[in-house]
Amino acid sequence: MKDLDRIRRPEPATIVIFGASGDLAFRKLVPALHSLACADLLPQKYLILGVARSPMDDQAFRQSMEKGVQTFGRLKGEGCAQWDAFASHLFYQPLVYDTLADYEALAQTLQRLEAEHDLPPNRLFYLSTPPHLYAPVVEQLGASGLAQNRGQFTRIVIEKPFGVDLHSAHELNERIHRVFSEDQVYRIDHYLGKETVQNIMVFRFANAIFEPVWNRNYIDHVQISVLEEVEVGRRGGYYDQAGVLRDMFQNHLMQLLTLTAMEPPAAWDATMLRDEKVKVLRALRLPDAETLRTHTVRAQYLAGKEGGLAYRQEPGVAPDSETPTYAALKLFVDNWRWQGVPFYLRSGKNLKTKMTEVVIRFKEVPHMLFADGGRPVTPNMLAFCLQPDEGFHLGFETKRPGAGMRTRSVDMSFHFATTFGQKALPEAYERLLLDALLGDASLFARADEIEFSWRIIDAIQQGWARGDGPPLSFYAPDSWGPDAADAMLAASGRAWESSCAEVHE
Ligand code: BG6
Repeated sequence: MKDLDRIRRPEPATIVIFGASGDLAFRKLVPALHSLACADLLPQKYLILGVARSPMDDQAFRQSMEKGVQTFGRLKGEGCAQWDAFASHLFYQPLVYDTLADYEALAQTLQRLEAEHDLPPNRLFYLSTPPHLYAPVVEQLGASGLAQNRGQFTRIVIEKPFGVDLHSAHELNERIHRVFSEDQVYRIDHYLGKETVQNIMVFRFANAIFEPVWNRNYIDHVQISVLEEVEVGRRGGYYDQAGVLRDMFQNHLMQLLTLTAMEPPAAWDATMLRDEKVKVLRALRLPDAETLRTHTVRAQYLAGKEGGLAYRQEPGVAPDSETPTYAALKLFVDNWRWQGVPFYLRSGKNLKTKMTEVVIRFKEVPHMLFADGGRPVTPNMLAFCLQPDEGFHLGFETKRPGAGMRTRSVDMSFHFATTFGQKALPEAYERLLLDALLGDASLFARADEIEFSWRIIDAIQQGWARGDGPPLSFYAPDSWGPDAADAMLAASGRAWESSCAEVHE
């Protein structure tokens, strides 16, 4: 982060957080801003104005945020103890989200605070409200004149979920575009803020040796796994409406897929980068009834042995719910680079371990010299371990010491923590908030990107709803997922990897 500091520091600005009394501000946003302050990466002058329905004064807001920073902040205590200095930048204003007069009052408060602290009217609005409030807040910002750019910038950051399908996402984009131009809009996907996710691009485009083999001539298939240990828990009400495709695939898994599959952009530039990602999404083959049955899996977790609830017993979940908590997909990117290479994606809750990885499985050697009693050699594998033990490893064959020419698969690995230190990895929200302040939208989703990614999710959801998909299967908690997901790969002689978990164990 210090290196970034030397590159550029944001212009003085006010960050206005809508939904400031909520969980995200408490756990992520304010702790991330605090860590940025500790790392000297915030503007020379800045204000953070919390806005929400709850009545509260500045003092109460500061006290609540202090707890959040103490519990969730990355840099605190010995790392950075400047709470009082940071707290003096925090303010709070109650607001009813659909009341224009409250936005006019907000405009006055902003003007007053900016005058008192000698700040220009550069404003970053952050929407961390419930999603049904995104459009109403944007419209009130427009009606009250707050969306107008009166300084060097006025920007808006919008949290996920962005719509629930293509239609609603398109409508939300249209309502936003009536008030803000696209270059003012920053749609968050926190996976793009993860260092290791960004490293997929550095790995591919800052090394000369991998890109020449990054194609259908050398790659057998790609696996993207985002496995979670957590259950649905208290989020049943939301989750039962969403399901794993909307909650994880439309955003996080699609981001991982596009970064892995895209062509090299000509420059590190938000437009060029996102153009390339959109091209991948446009090239995704939409499933027909037959492929929905054979190339998709949907499943729900059962009750655990030690009293863990089945998904259908979770509070807020319908007792006969068909909502999947796990899905696996076999997708194809129809272009020259990837024709015929399957991309297997899977994600689910209440599984054996938390593990996010992208695995590239290369093809077999064309001719084997060292056939050791007919034992097949394992083709090369490259795994990006995105979390929790960030790094990557490369699996290759080596000679077993001793007589003959017997081979064995071994692993060459790199771990961020070993090379850069345990605390070196910033939280995703630190990077994203900083980029939004700097005006770099590279790591944010563009309107068309969101819509193309909904297109494929809708095709699957609608197919399932028509009854074209496979039957819902079930899996035991603490497992690697349903048998049907293993069978989907086994049908073409393949198996799921869990290479990052094995290295971690
Ligand atoms: C969120 C989903 O976007 O991502 C959650 O809504 C999920 O259901 C979370 O648990 C996973 O994020 P991470 O950073 O823990 O992998």
